[in-house]
Amino acid sequence: MPIQTTPNIWHNGKLIPWEQANIHVMSHVVHYGSCVFEGIRCYNQPQGAAIFRLPEHMQRLLDSAKIYRMEVPYDLEELCAAVVDVVEANSVSPCYIRPIILRGYGEIGVSPKGSPIEVYIANFPWGKYIEGTGGADVCVSSWNRMAPNTLPSLAKAGANYMNSQLIHMEAEENGYAEGIALDVNGLISEGSGENVFVVRNGVLYTPPLANSALSGITRDSVLTIARHLGLTVTEQALPRELLYIADEVFFSGTAAEVSPIRSVDRIVVGDGKPGEITKKIADEFFGIASGLKPDRFGWLTPVKLNLPEPVAK
Ligand SMILES: Cc1ncc(COP(=O)(O)O)c(C=O)c1O
Repeated sequence: MPIQTTPNIWHNGKLIPWEQANIHVMSHVVHYGSCVFEGIRCYNQPQGAAIFRLPEHMQRLLDSAKIYRMEVPYDLEELCAAVVDVVEANSVSPCYIRPIILRGYGEIGVSPKGSPIEVYIANFPWGKYIEGTGGADVCVSSWNRMAPNTLPSLAKAGANYMNSQLIHMEAEENGYAEGIALDVNGLISEGSGENVFVVRNGVLYTPPLANSALSGITRDSVLTIARHLGLTVTEQALPRELLYIADEVFFSGTAAEVSPIRSVDRIVVGDGKPGEITKKIADEFFGIASGLKPDRFGWLTPVKLNLPEPVAK
């Protein structure tokens, strides 16, 4: 789906028109993938709109930047305020928010030190990410996730998404909605843009971060909700074949939200329908995000939007 534009993008402290948020082809990021970014959702609420887990996302952005020795001239509070500013100025909800910190135009050598740090925050409408009503048909990728101590998986860096593209393109070419990658030891890692959960005999499993998985904010939300619901939750290394004999499998992610998986490598998961535990977690997740259930974990940042009044019937 082509990006739907909005009027403003936040750039280094001020709002600029969408069309003017351009970088030069010789910018460091274009050649070496030197950027870190976030993906955040803003949901409609009965009384307006709210951003889901804004400080956690912006803290992860700063952590990603720190790993890559990027000196960001804004602190957590300033970055959160900037997101609120651009979302309120554009007044589009629901929307997806894309903050990005990149190394801009300066020097062309691999050393990034001579290229300036640029911070941009855009937001735009974006709907459902994982296709498949009643669950997605996915495969295990022939591509592995990055080996430890190569590209750090705890940094949400642009360069990691070259690997994600290989995983996703292979899946698409073969008629699947998404691919699940293993780590270099053949253990389950994550989807190209999602964390993975497995349910077997009433226990909820997900791989630990040491299996080259991103520290997903939705992953954390799912773990928190599951514990709150009294489920047994374990973060442990998981063999590939657990996907084939699981009762339930689902993805979590900001774009994917909580997305049930119907089959893996054409092997049907459970009875082929979204499972009870997946449904309970999704119900709580969407209930909180949409303001229909109490924000019991303090995950929402309300925003004031200038939306047209609904037409009275
Ligand atoms: C590789 C990868 N893993 C996991 C996730 C899920 O992370 P989050 O729930 O923070 O969006 C994402 C999405 O950002 C991702 O790109």
